[in-house]
Amino acid sequence: MAGSRRLAMRLLSGCAWVRGSDSAVLGRLRDEAVVHPGFLSQEEEDTLTRELEPQLRRRRYEYDHWDAAIHGFRETEKSCWSDASQVILQRVRAAAFGPDQSLLSPVHVLDLEPRGYIKPHVDSVKFCGSTIAGLSLLSPSVMKLVHTQEPEQWLELLLEPGSLYILRGSARYDFSHEILRDEESFFGEHRVPRGRRISVICRSLPEGMGPGRPEEPPPAC
Ligand code: OGA
Ligand code: MN
Repeated sequence: MAGSRRLAMRLLSGCAWVRGSDSAVLGRLRDEAVVHPGFLSQEEEDTLTRELEPQLRRRRYEYDHWDAAIHGFRETEKSCWSDASQVILQRVRAAAFGPDQSLLSPVHVLDLEPRGYIKPHVDSVKFCGSTIAGLSLLSPSVMKLVHTQEPEQWLELLLEPGSLYILRGSARYDFSHEILRDEESFFGEHRVPRGRRISVICRSLPEGMGPGRPEEPPPAC
């Protein structure tokens, strides 16, 4: 049947934005490590970048000590957003999270300079629930996922500017994730040169924690 042949092809080769060590991993994580290329229009990407830039510019890039997970970065936790950005974030919530998931309230904004990178790590289960969703702005990058117990199982996600990635379930808990440094930034054979990259990351709260103060409106900006 044409449909099942197409599915088999997809499982074998992955899609254009997700590569994997083997078709079993690709199939298993098909709904758990997801990339939506072009999730943002150019205008939406500019809206977010323009809004974030002044806040980020006030900070210095950090090059932490040797065991830090992130190098060459500055970051902020942002609770107050313009109406236009709130509409975008609402779209992210609808695309990535279930109706019964509560979100960590400030959104994490991470600015990696061109030489900046994120070492393999699993987000702490103390602060983050089963779903992580990130928008990428400015520069393309490659996110690599490696199984923490069976490192021969891996995925690569091609994160173009304007894309949304979602990690949930096993992709979030059983695989480490990292953003490759410029020298190692390849999607398969395809070189993905790194420039400055901003990510806007929404996370669910650890299950059972619920929103801290459910009735409280967001702080006035
Ligand atoms: C993190 C992280 C990924 C990204 O901050 O824990 O993995 O897209 N960030 O910046
Ligand atoms: Mn992380």
